[in-house]
Order: sequence, then C-alpha cells, then structure tokens
Amino acid sequence: MNAEGSADLEQLVFTEEPEGTDEPRVHAAWLPPEAFRALGARRVLVHGQGMLVDTVLDEVSRACARYGGRVWHSPSWDVDVDVVLALRGAGELPNPAVEAARAAGEAALVEIGDGETLGDEGFLLARAGEVTVVLADAPAGLLYGLFHVVRLCAAAYDPARPPERHRPALRRRMLNHWDNVAVHPVMGQVERGYAGGSIFWRDGRPRGDLARIREYGRLLAASGVNAISVNNVNVGRTEALLLTDRLGDIAEIADVLRPYGIRVHLSVTFAAPVVLGGLSTADPMDEAVRAWWAATTRNVYERIPDFGGYVVKADSEGQPGPFTYGRDHADGANVLAEALAPHGGVVHWRAFVYNHHQDWRDRSTDRARAAYDHFTPLDGRFRANVVVQVKFGPVDFQTREPVSPVLAAMPATRLAVELQVTQEYTGQQRHVCHLGPWWGEVLRFEPWGPGGRTIADVATGVAESGGGLVAVANTGDDLFWTGHPLAQANLYTFGRLAWDPRLDPTAILDEWISLTFPPSATADPELVGRTLHEILDDSWRTYERYTAPLGVGFMVHPGDHYGPGIDGYEYTRWGTYHFADRDGVGVDRSRASGTGFAAQYPPYWAQVYESPESCPDELLLFFHHVPYEHVLHSGSTVIQHIYDTHFTGVEEVAVMRRRWQTLNGMIDPAVYERVAERLDEQVRSATEWRDQVNAYFFRKSGVPDERGRTIY
Ligand code: GCU
Repeated sequence: MNAEGSADLEQLVFTEEPEGTDEPRVHAAWLPPEAFRALGARRVLVHGQGMLVDTVLDEVSRACARYGGRVWHSPSWDVDVDVVLALRGAGELPNPAVEAARAAGEAALVEIGDGETLGDEGFLLARAGEVTVVLADAPAGLLYGLFHVVRLCAAAYDPARPPERHRPALRRRMLNHWDNVAVHPVMGQVERGYAGGSIFWRDGRPRGDLARIREYGRLLAASGVNAISVNNVNVGRTEALLLTDRLGDIAEIADVLRPYGIRVHLSVTFAAPVVLGGLSTADPMDEAVRAWWAATTRNVYERIPDFGGYVVKADSEGQPGPFTYGRDHADGANVLAEALAPHGGVVHWRAFVYNHHQDWRDRSTDRARAAYDHFTPLDGRFRANVVVQVKFGPVDFQTREPVSPVLAAMPATRLAVELQVTQEYTGQQRHVCHLGPWWGEVLRFEPWGPGGRTIADVATGVAESGGGLVAVANTGDDLFWTGHPLAQANLYTFGRLAWDPRLDPTAILDEWISLTFPPSATADPELVGRTLHEILDDSWRTYERYTAPLGVGFMVHPGDHYGPGIDGYEYTRWGTYHFADRDGVGVDRSRASGTGFAAQYPPYWAQVYESPESCPDELLLFFHHVPYEHVLHSGSTVIQHIYDTHFTGVEEVAVMRRRWQTLNGMIDPAVYERVAERLDEQVRSATEWRDQVNAYFFRKSGVPDERGRTIY
C-alpha cells in the first residue's frame, strides 16, 4: 500500500489482542511468542501491499501487542522506527528517516549484490544507522525476511551487522504428506505417520481444523518450505476423488496456506481417467486420455489458480502406471505435464519404481539398480515441467545408504532429491535421531568425485533448473506436531536445507534450539543448549550403531518397520536382503562378481565402491559380501565391529537419557515428560536391537566377542 492509502489502516496500530487469544492450541514449536520478543518490543514499519504483506503485518502486530512495541503500515505521517520491512517497489513515504534507511538498504544491495534482483522470495537485511531494514522485491520475500529477523533475535539489531542478501537456492521446497483421507486398513490415517492422525483428514472427510492448518503453514514458512502435497502417494479410491468431486477440500486447504506462501499439490492416480473419467483406458498416448487430463486440470486451476501440480507414484508397489499400456515413464509423466503446462504447474514423478515381487533365491535381481535402469534411458525425454523425484538412496530411506546414482545420471532432466523426515526407518519418532547430519552428508556428496558438483548442486540446477528438495513429512495432529518433540528439529532442518542445502546442519540445529527453547525462558540457557546439542548432534550415528551394520540396511520388523527383525525380509519378495551365512554377510553389488550396481556410478565412485579394499567402511556391506574376519579400515574385523558398535550404541542412548534428566525443571514440563518417556522406550528398543543383532551374528559366525561381553 502506498502512503496515500494508509490512513485507514491506523486501526492496525497499537491493537492489543484480548488476553490469551494467541496462545497456541498446540505446541508452538520454533515459533513461540517469546521468539518474537526482540521484534515485538520495537517500533516497526511495514511498507507495501499484498496478501503476504498483510501476513507480515499480522505477525508484527501480534508481536508488538504482546511485547509493547508499535507497528505502522505505510503511514502518511512521520514516525520514529527501529525496523523497516519494505517492498522495494512500494512508493516513497513522507518519512525522511525511513527513506534514508531504504536508501541505505538499496546502496548495500548494490555493494553486495551482483546486479540481480532479490527475486520472488529473496530479501536484503541491512543496518542503516539505528534502523534494521529488510527489503524485498515481492511479498513472499518480505515474509521470509521477517522470519529471518525473528531467527536472529537480538543479532538483527547489532549495529555492526554487515548487510546480507538472501535468496533460496531451491525454487521448490516441498513436503509430501502421506496422509490418507479414508483410514487405510493397514496403513491407517497417515502412512508411516508417527505423530497421531492427519492435520488435514479424518475418517474420510476433511478434518476442518483450519486454525491448525494455518498454524502449520506458519511454521513451515518460517522454516522455508513453500509447497506441500496433502495426500498420500498411494492413492486410494476416496483420495482419487480429490482431483474432481472433492476438489473443494483441496481449495479450502490452499486458501488457508496461501497467506504463508505455500502452494498446494495433489497426489493423483495414473488411472484417474479410468477411475474418475469413466474412460476405458489411461494410456498416455490415447487422445481421449490426454483431453481428459487437460480438461480436468483446467478445472483444478479454475478453482485454485496457484495450484502447484501433481505428485505421482506410478508402476510402483501396486500403483497403476504407464507400463500397463506398454508405455514408459516419460510418456506417462508428459501427459500430465502437458495438461499442467498452460497453468504453470509441475508434475513430480517419482523414480521409486522397482519390482516388489522379487524371488529371494535369485541373486541377480537387485532392487538398488531399479530406478537407474528404468529412468536413465529416458533422460532428455521429460517435458520441462516434469520433476523426476529421486529418493536420496537407491533402496528406501535407510539409516545408511550410498547416494542414488540416478542423481548423477540424468543431466537433461529436472531432478528433485527426496528425503524422509518421517522416521520410518530411523526410530519412528520414538527414538531421538537427528537427521540433519545425514542429509548434510547426502547433499555435500560429490557423485563425480572429489572437487566436482554436489548433490545440492543437482537439486539446485543451473539457473534454477533443478527440481529442488522434497521430503515426506513427519507431522500429525499430535500436541507436539511430531510425536517426539525433538523430531521437530528434523522438520525445521529440512526446511532450512531446502532454502539453502549448503547450510551447516549443526548451525541449523543451533537456530532451532534457540527458537524452540528461548534462552529467556529458562533458568540455565547454557545448560539447555549444550544438553540438546549433546543429545541430538550425533544421534543419527548412535542410531546407526545399534541397528543394521555397515550399510547393509533393513533388518527391521516386517510391515511396521519398527525394531529388529534381522531375517524379517530375508526370504520375502521385497528385495532387501543381507545374505548372512556362517561365513559372512553383505550384498555383492560389484560389477566383477555381483549385481553390477556399483557400475551405475560415475567412474570415480564406481571404482571406489567396486572393491572391498577401497569401499568406505560404513557402506561395506551394502556393496560387498565379506567374511566376518574381514578387516575394516578402522582396524576392526566386521564381526567385532558389529559387537562393538552395538554395545556402544546402547551405552550412548543411556547417556542421552541421563543428560535429558538434567533438564528436569529447566524446560516446559510437558516437553520434558514426553521426551523422557520416549527415551525410556529408546533404551528398551536399542537394547533389543543390540541383543538380537549380536546374538544373530554370534550364532551364525561362532566368533566370540573379543571383550567377552554378554551375547545371548
Ligand atoms: C516405503 C514405505 C511405503 C511407501 C513407499 C514409497 O516403501 O514403506 O509405505 O509407500 O516407501 O515411498 O512410496
């Protein structure tokens, strides 16, 4: 809004909300009111217009009402301010100090910028004399700038703070909800959900709790997420209807998330033309099918003009796909992309395609090879608005896997990297398992060898041509959003890495800690911060220590995937085997004698992985079947490593629990209790893992623990 139109907005100034109305109905996660104290105690001027500027204004107004500051929206009179949040294109204000701050911001931008604009979502933060100024080209940038100021707390007002320019490295930063509309008889309301029911759906209907969805959007925006799919990739009959008859349900969610800059996407079934359209085929080459997708998609955009697009799991684990019609995945993806293109939408087409009816007797079929074998021959054939969404590893979100070779093999395709924030294989939000360091390793991995481009570069692409980062969400209707309160850190970290995959996960954790456990809200902030780091920093490695060893993966209880099931999948059709016998363990994926998977990598890694001598210890059993006495680079034998890490892992969990106990009385008792209860379960479960894995390998190998510890 320009200066002329601002007078009627005076009512926004100084408005006090009635006592308690902005008390969160659920845990405030990384946006507790306290995090807004530094901003809310200041005099803030917001300048500009647009739905997201109104969101900024609303946020600032609430903070100021609580902490005694003041807020103005494009005032037509002179005011003294401490903070200016302004759109660059918004007209001049009759306020010399504010204009001076804006001019200083512009000058800083010229100085540190490369002549580029701030873009749709970027912002500049600078100090101009006594004023902190945030400039953006577009309303979304102003919102992200606001949350940056909140994150910085007092540091945003440090006179010595040099100017900063921020732009997201990735255009699309997306969460996939595996939420079912109707409760699935096996998978429940949320597939692989460990945080209660769905935020969006209950028993076949929209849940209708729009306030919670809004609160969720707010949290996501503050972490950097800007896209969300709201139903499971496995699309059932009820869920299929969201595309047509029940589009209104999606429109309602989109309306609530829009003010936080989040676009809604929908998982659709490839069979939709048959299931919904009554056609006899879903063949992507059929004219009637193309016309159906085009018309249906047009209808979606009439209802939701900023609709993001479709997410598709096809020809995978029983979902329909183009193979039925003798077509390939490029044919399949392109027909949806063609329908979305006129409206600016994208299709996220998942590369998680493999044979889930494998014969365990057949050692030549390798699930790890599948995505590469199916997709790399199609490189260059996907339309520009297709994003091929690739799980970060070749198998299935394991605690340790090599990075998927597909990510290095499709230079002419937009690739997104898919992570799993929901902790299906990493403790199901009953175990503390901070995944930031793991994702950091994946994103920093250089698939072409040392010094080359990284996975983060692939997701970013050249000139924003990359497909971005996608993750399966870990949230539900739980009081703490994520079941385990410390699992909130994983969601926050995902958003921040999606904004900038080069950020240091430990620094992100630091941000999360100081926002979620504000120093001013505890008697001993140093103890709280240190303890949380001690518990979380290495928790993924701890989890790895007491579960499947040396990258071999799985060994989980079949079906629910929680707890040990060493041979649980060994003789099944799912293709996830470890091949342990009396002499050794591991999967030979070498080119020379195994499945040939190692050869799917560019030469540097193909060579490193090919031989047990050069293969990194942590992936040894992923790539090789070796004798128990094989000596690792660490100097330990495989069998002794298994024993040692399993004993150590459980000891580390016991230490975590003791450390947590030092926080009793220091933090919110509800958070304390929930985590304490989950740590008890983690100690129990880790002990079970240790004893089963150690007993299993002792019984197979007959090799005793050289330290004589108890093995059953
Ligand atoms: C895993 C998970 C399934 C999920 C699938 C997917 O296999 O166990 O529940 O549907 O991944 O990513 O599609």
